[in-house]
Amino acid sequence: MKIVTFDTYEEMSSYAADIYEQQLKDKPDSVLGLATGSTPIGLYKELIKRNSQGRISFKDCITYNLDEYCGISPENEQSYKYFMNHNLFDYTDFKKENLHIPNAYDGNYEQAGRQYDAQIAASGGIDLQLLGIGLNGHIGFNEPADFFTKETHVVNLTENTIEANSRFFDDIKDVPTKAVTMGMYSIMTAKKILMVINGEKKYNIFKEATEGKITPSCPATILQLHPDVIVLYSKI
Ligand code: GLP
Repeated sequence: MKIVTFDTYEEMSSYAADIYEQQLKDKPDSVLGLATGSTPIGLYKELIKRNSQGRISFKDCITYNLDEYCGISPENEQSYKYFMNHNLFDYTDFKKENLHIPNAYDGNYEQAGRQYDAQIAASGGIDLQLLGIGLNGHIGFNEPADFFTKETHVVNLTENTIEANSRFFDDIKDVPTKAVTMGMYSIMTAKKILMVINGEKKYNIFKEATEGKITPSCPATILQLHPDVIVLYSKI
C-alpha cells in the first residue's frame, strides 16, 4: 500500500488526476470504477479540465459506479446517477452507453446486483477503482459488519452514515435507509485502487484503514490485502 499525504485538497486532487492521466495513456479503454461523495469532486473537476484541454479522453472507457441509494429515481438530484452526470459525465467525452450505476430503483435489486457483477466481469474487471471512505470505514456502501460481502448487494445504512450524508438533503428524514453497493469481490479484484481521503475529521479512520487490524468492522482495512493500492490523504 502506497500512502501519499498532501497539504491541500487541490494538490491531492491534481495528483489523483495524474494517476488517471497515466492510466489512460497506458490503457485508453480502461474500465473505471467510480465513486461519489464530496471527496472526488476536486479530482472530477481536474479530469473535466484535462479532458477539455485534450490531454485525456474517456471515449473508450467503461465505467461502473460503486453504489446507489435505494428508491430514489435516477432523475432525482439526490441520486448518485444525477451526481455523476453533474459532476463528471455531462462535461466529458464518456459515451453514455458505457456508463453503469447499480440499479436501486426498480425491479429486483439482488438479481440486478448479480447482473452488475457479471457485467463487470464481462468487461474484464475494473482497471482502476476509485474509493472514498466513510467516517466509519465504509467503502462504497459496504458498512461495518461481522463479515465482508462479496457480491453487489442491498445494505441497510448505519445511523452514522445516514447522519453523515444528511448534509446533502433538506431533512435527515429524506435520507434513504438502504442502498445497493458493489461488494468486495469487484473492488478487490480491481487491478489498481486509488483511495482519496480529505479532512482532519477523517484522520483517525485514515490511520485505522491503513494500519489497523483487518476486520469487516472497518471495511476499508481489507485494502491492506490488495497488491496495488494508493491512498491519498489531505488534512485541509
Ligand atoms: C458515501 C459514499 C461513499 C463515500 C462516502 C464518503 O457514503 N457511498 O462511496 O466514500 O460517502 O463521502 P465524502 O467524500 O463526502 O466524505
